[in-house]
Amino acid sequence: MRQVYKVFAVLLSLSCVVFATNAAAATIRITCRAKGQELELCKKAVQEWEKRTGNVVEIIPLPQSSSEAFVVTQQQLSAQTSDVDIFQVDTTWVSFLAAHVVSLKLYFSQQELAAHFPAILQNNTINGELIVAPWYADVDLLFYRKDLLEKYGKLPPTSWEDLFLIAQEIQESERAAGNGRLWGYVFRGKAYEGLMCHVVEWIGAFGGTLYPPDIACIIEVFTFIAQFIPKISPAGTLNYAEEDVRGVFQSGNAIFASNWPYTWALTQTENSPVKGKVGICVLPKGGQHGKCTSVLGGWGLCVSRYSRNQEAAIDLVRWLTRPEEQRRRALHASYCPTIRLLYQDPELLTANPFFRQAGQALETVILRPSSSLGRFYAQASASIVNLVQRVLLCRIAPDMAAQRLEKDIIGFHKRASEMATTKN
Ligand code: GLC
Repeated sequence: MRQVYKVFAVLLSLSCVVFATNAAAATIRITCRAKGQELELCKKAVQEWEKRTGNVVEIIPLPQSSSEAFVVTQQQLSAQTSDVDIFQVDTTWVSFLAAHVVSLKLYFSQQELAAHFPAILQNNTINGELIVAPWYADVDLLFYRKDLLEKYGKLPPTSWEDLFLIAQEIQESERAAGNGRLWGYVFRGKAYEGLMCHVVEWIGAFGGTLYPPDIACIIEVFTFIAQFIPKISPAGTLNYAEEDVRGVFQSGNAIFASNWPYTWALTQTENSPVKGKVGICVLPKGGQHGKCTSVLGGWGLCVSRYSRNQEAAIDLVRWLTRPEEQRRRALHASYCPTIRLLYQDPELLTANPFFRQAGQALETVILRPSSSLGRFYAQASASIVNLVQRVLLCRIAPDMAAQRLEKDIIGFHKRASEMATTKN
């Protein structure tokens, strides 16, 4: 009987401990994007934090498309509910987020902050407050079929004009030899944020800017891209988001593809039809005055002002964005760290041979006009990609489209600055 009492007492004390731990444990809800290996990576890191802290985390998957993910996030934050504590957020959302999140500045040391690429830190900071903790960076890269370029004695293209000619030549010869499904070039042509990135990059590559609009350059770009379909790109490109682009390239049906770095790790898996056949270089330059250029992409984490567990949420954000975790994501899934020093890590350079170029590209990235457009950015971006789809389909002449774009972008900026003046 005494034994039974003893066991009962131990159980009772254990349940008290469990109760005590649970009482102190917080439940944190975080949105994580479900693209490529992202959700898996997020789950793994979150589980480690749960074990370490005794807290519980619920992951809410975000749509793959940045544009759709923005709508969901905007709804949640505008409703000011405490349902979600941490949001995974895109580079261009910072102006919108500022009113709804906790400043993270005090939770990172000066040294920790200075370790990130300046462009990322600057993008994520408003009025000296850190709105978003950098998690990973994206730069667009040109993926190409090394084996096919070698077969035809070609070097990776350094200009868009070269890319076009090489794509056309190899595509024709390969098709004549029976490879009927091969396309020269695939890109994110769907009417969403992924196409907006290309638009800014194409204009930058040809030496101009979207804002202030460089009309001569925009006409040159539109005239050039209007040749893509169907000469080197399938009409289906107009429905491609990043995972579709990866799918076509990875199944061996494209010579060139522009896409984000995560593509690399997946094209190198055991079952990938293009394993060992992929080369990567920076995006080409265009025209006479061109330069190689990618937009700054990437995602970070922010803590909702309406969260009831801000302290634990901030701890999780610190855990997920710390250098060791960024390194792990880079090693296993080729996500680009936001921390400069990691681009000198020999193991990461072996796993991701393009890291040297990606690191350099991150020093010179161009930004989408999200901070100047503020809350009008999403609307402006949607209207631009719809227009550019018409250019790609040759449904509007390049000069007319360029004039429309000029009018639109100036109009949106005017509305944004009027709103800023009214607020002040
Ligand atoms: C990637 C980039 C992001 C961009 C999006 C567009 O996720 O990281 O910045 O907005 O692609 O599709």
